[in-house]
Amino acid sequence: MVNDPGMMPYGRYAHIVGWGKALPDRVVTNHELEQIVDTNDEWIRSRTGIQQRRIAVDPAETTATLGARAARAALEVADVPASKVDMIIVSTSSPEHTFPATACIVQDLLGAVNAGAFDLSAACSGFVYGLGLAKGLIASGQADNVLVIGAETLSRITDWSDRNTCVLFGDGAGAVLVQSSPVPGGILATEMGCDGSGGDLLILPAGGSKMPATLETVASGQHFIKMNGRAVFRFATRIMAEATRKVLDKAHLTIADVDLVIPHQANERIIAVSMKNLKLPPEKIFMNLQYYGNTSTASIPIALCEAIEQDRVKPNDNIVMVGFGAGLTWAGTAIKWGVPTEKEVSFWRASQRSASYGLARARSQWLRLTHLLGSNLVTEEGETLPQAFTKRLEEWRKLLEFDDEEDLLSLAEQEVTPENLPPSADAQSDNMASD
Ligand code: ACO
Repeated sequence: MVNDPGMMPYGRYAHIVGWGKALPDRVVTNHELEQIVDTNDEWIRSRTGIQQRRIAVDPAETTATLGARAARAALEVADVPASKVDMIIVSTSSPEHTFPATACIVQDLLGAVNAGAFDLSAACSGFVYGLGLAKGLIASGQADNVLVIGAETLSRITDWSDRNTCVLFGDGAGAVLVQSSPVPGGILATEMGCDGSGGDLLILPAGGSKMPATLETVASGQHFIKMNGRAVFRFATRIMAEATRKVLDKAHLTIADVDLVIPHQANERIIAVSMKNLKLPPEKIFMNLQYYGNTSTASIPIALCEAIEQDRVKPNDNIVMVGFGAGLTWAGTAIKWGVPTEKEVSFWRASQRSASYGLARARSQWLRLTHLLGSNLVTEEGETLPQAFTKRLEEWRKLLEFDDEEDLLSLAEQEVTPENLPPSADAQSDNMASD
């Protein structure tokens, strides 16, 4: 066992070095919900603390696009190009599909050409589970840069005629870049737990392999969230305090050492009861659920971003993130914050990044086409069209990722000639014909 909390077998620490959030523009207030279901602003505020939430009303805004936006912001802060990301973990309960994983869609949107990608299903605890996995990947030397994203469009699996649930949830995404570092600190410890016997208390019954979609399941609303609110409430107040204590123990810290707790933003009363059990004063607890509702796994990373914006996070602070959710699951992490939170991104760097995302889009479109057409056409060098095009895009991308602006300028001055470009489809057809 390693004595120094956070210390990895290979002397590698895992630090959060970038953070970002993405929220849909559309604000839905409690008063608007009064028009839809039998509820009122006073009930929602007093029972949950929620005043409004954001809803993704544009069908083009999805779990993946929100996740990718948050991830871009995190990479921007970290000043790391997408090509340096080794793994993308998307925690979500509202994935775009059962498969492919939403993480793969995010990989494509980012042009993270060297990354593996997978979805993590641990409901609202998922983001903190993701931090635990990121630390493990870094510890074992399998990754240097791991994107952990919490993204949800819960509005699309919410029954808007059920007042027990529809007043609670919101859409959004948050992301962090976890990076290996020799500097002590970072993610010191994580605590991840589960009690599957409580699975029925918070469930999306249909649409999986046990209850595939049928006309009946759709008609009876089995594709929407079902929840036993009181039972979840009891579980949450107990487990949030328990998980916090356990993770602090693992990190060799006490409650008195904690500078800030960022809890899952489900309900003001759940947070108040559990933090009171821990004897943590309100000024050490971060809350923003009044503006966004419960965004499930996105709530902690969104709250982290806002805590940083509000100057509530400083280097060397001990921060606890703790959540609970369907499963039933819970997770806590203790972090010694390691990097400055005031970061400036140069205009030049931002332009480089945005150009590289443009290339990622072009690459994606091209690859989609070649998946459809097959890849039988070959260049004179014997490369398939996708290979030739990907190679050229890779060269352009590398050019965009030069650290030194002068290098970039000198390379940018290189003449782009027809020979530099990938062969056109016509030229390929000619090659084929002459073969
Ligand atoms: N507006 C008005 N009245 C309502 C509403 C509403 N939106 N919803 C319920 N009520 C009524 C109920 O019908 C009930 O009426 P009754 O007494 O006549 O039967 C009354 O209000 C009280 O209902 P309770 O369920 O006892 O209300 P409670 O104080 O427990 O609050 C709540 C309900 C907010 C859902 C609470 O139980 C809670 O927060 N539970 C945890 C839920 C949660 O956090 N879930 C997310 C988990 S994370 C994840 O994985 C997504």
